[in-house]
Amino acid sequence: SSQQTIDLASYIRSIPNFPKPGIIFRDITPLLASPEALRETVRQLADAVRDRDVEAIAAAEARGFLFAAPLALELNVGLIPIRKPGKLPSETFSHTYTLEYGTDTLEMHKDAIKPGTRVLVVDDLLATGGTVEACCRLIEKAGGIVVGCAFVIELTDLKGAERLARYRPVSLIKFSGG
Ligand code: PRP
Ligand code: MG
Repeated sequence: SSQQTIDLASYIRSIPNFPKPGIIFRDITPLLASPEALRETVRQLADAVRDRDVEAIAAAEARGFLFAAPLALELNVGLIPIRKPGKLPSETFSHTYTLEYGTDTLEMHKDAIKPGTRVLVVDDLLATGGTVEACCRLIEKAGGIVVGCAFVIELTDLKGAERLARYRPVSLIKFSGG
């Protein structure tokens, strides 16, 4: 077709010293603002996991949700929300994980996944991998099979892909430095 290939990286804005000195924040808001770039992002995520026989998408609030819903529609599967504590109304599995300072907890409904379901985890960004590793643990607690994890952006210096290697991570845009 005459369709130009979209350079997704050009839709990520880099903001130095946010949220603290020395950190470069990779801002997805320009990508979200462009229907062409957002559509291409979802298409590329779907293509990257097409061979994994995905039966459900899981994602953690907040930014993961932005890509999970359109990806679920693109793959014609359902969406499982993973949330901060106290947000989900029915019985939940909970997983607490370690951050640089302190801990964080994520929750998922116990009945969100039938045992044996093939689940893909999606998030906007792979940094240390802690968030998505917690999501994968929750899916496994429920008896699901994590068949992959997919990211729009990967910060390669933080080695999150190594941490998540058993979940076969894929990412569309890689940044090193900052
Ligand atoms: C950000 C980002 C990823 C996570 C990546 O989420 O959206 O989920 O950090 O970091 P990690 O690989 O080291 O876990 P954040 O916790 O800032 O919350 P948000 O999605 O609600 O903005
Ligand atoms: Mg997040």
